Amino acid sequence: MPRPIMATISIPAMQHNLNHVTAGLQEQARQATRAAPKVWAVIKAHAYGHGLSQGLAGFAAADGLAMLDLEEAVACREAGWQKPLLLLEGFFEAQDINVVDTYRLTVNVHVEEQLRMLEESAPSRPINVNLKINGGMNRLGFIPDVAVQAWQRLCALQRKGVVGELGTVMHFSRADDDPAETQRQLETFLDLTTDMPGVTSICNSAATLSTGLWTRLSPQRQQWVRPGICLYGASPFADRSADQLGLRPVMTLQARIISVQDCRPGASVGYGHTFTATQPTRVGIVACGYADGYPRHAGTGTPVTVAGHATRLLGRVSMDMLAVDLTGLESVGVGAPVVLWGEGGPSVDEVATAAGTVGYELLCALAPRVPRTIISANSTATPGGVKHGDLLNEE
Ligand SMILES: Cc1ncc(COP(=O)(O)O)c(C=O)c1O
Repeated sequence: MPRPIMATISIPAMQHNLNHVTAGLQEQARQATRAAPKVWAVIKAHAYGHGLSQGLAGFAAADGLAMLDLEEAVACREAGWQKPLLLLEGFFEAQDINVVDTYRLTVNVHVEEQLRMLEESAPSRPINVNLKINGGMNRLGFIPDVAVQAWQRLCALQRKGVVGELGTVMHFSRADDDPAETQRQLETFLDLTTDMPGVTSICNSAATLSTGLWTRLSPQRQQWVRPGICLYGASPFADRSADQLGLRPVMTLQARIISVQDCRPGASVGYGHTFTATQPTRVGIVACGYADGYPRHAGTGTPVTVAGHATRLLGRVSMDMLAVDLTGLESVGVGAPVVLWGEGGPSVDEVATAAGTVGYELLCALAPRVPRTIISANSTATPGGVKHGDLLNEE
């Protein structure tokens, strides 16, 4: 029998989240009497740890898919995705432009070197390009001082037939927690792009779910939003849960109790003895550890659900196991099901908060050794291990 741990990925939950986000945008659009933006579903990092093929199935209704790796984009095309594909960081080497050309990819151009590579290229057909503006994140993109010149160079390439549709993109650095700074970045972007017509994209999950951000852009401009984390059922905000946002968890990490220890007061649990019982304590040992992607920094008190009962983690997480408090749960023994996060358990955001990180990191860090079960669109579970070496199945 395989080790009792499993991650379940729900395609219906992905579909629900995409529909829910789209419906919210349509409602905002209705109130602003304008068209809703199109949606790039962000599937970078193997669809935030859920697997590319799950991203393709769950977000089939999206207007386009956005990612980082050329290989991921090629895999999506080869799997039959016909709609737009966006490379969020564009290309890295001149020869990548041939792949961009062959597979009809849209690219963000964020740095001088990419502009030069484009200027030296001769694609078989015009490439759709977005100029990336650095609005204050100071990570990628052209600062306002040089963005106009970069735009003019792209316009020249458009006239030569190297560039097709030309647009602008920006990425907010604090859309989740600082509305004033986000407004400032938005103003910077709006001022700079007044004379840069064309398609535009500025909103990640937090900005997409915040009212009054995307609607500030001119309705004359075609707009795309780029939600990622919310489509996987986790919250981009520290102060609003995914549940409050109407999102459903896509990934559920489950395991089983493999041992039970009855600890007397004074007995300690796990490496470093970071938990010491002060009363008779029933300790369940769960077949999940940091080598499975569970965060080692989660300490005593991190929420966990055992056989439907909400309880807490005890002591330090080890490589293959962790301990949970079964005190008062006398009927729960070896074999009992444990939900580490997801449906029927704590949210991935709650576990992440307890570990001092964000849900993004936990989802992306699920270890390859954890078998996945996919709940397909017609709700039948397809158990199965991950097939490595196949990009569409690799996590
Ligand atoms: C450029 C860009 N757009 C969109 C996203 C999606 O962000 P989120 O997952 O917060 O929605 C990311 C994620 O890091 C990103 O880097």
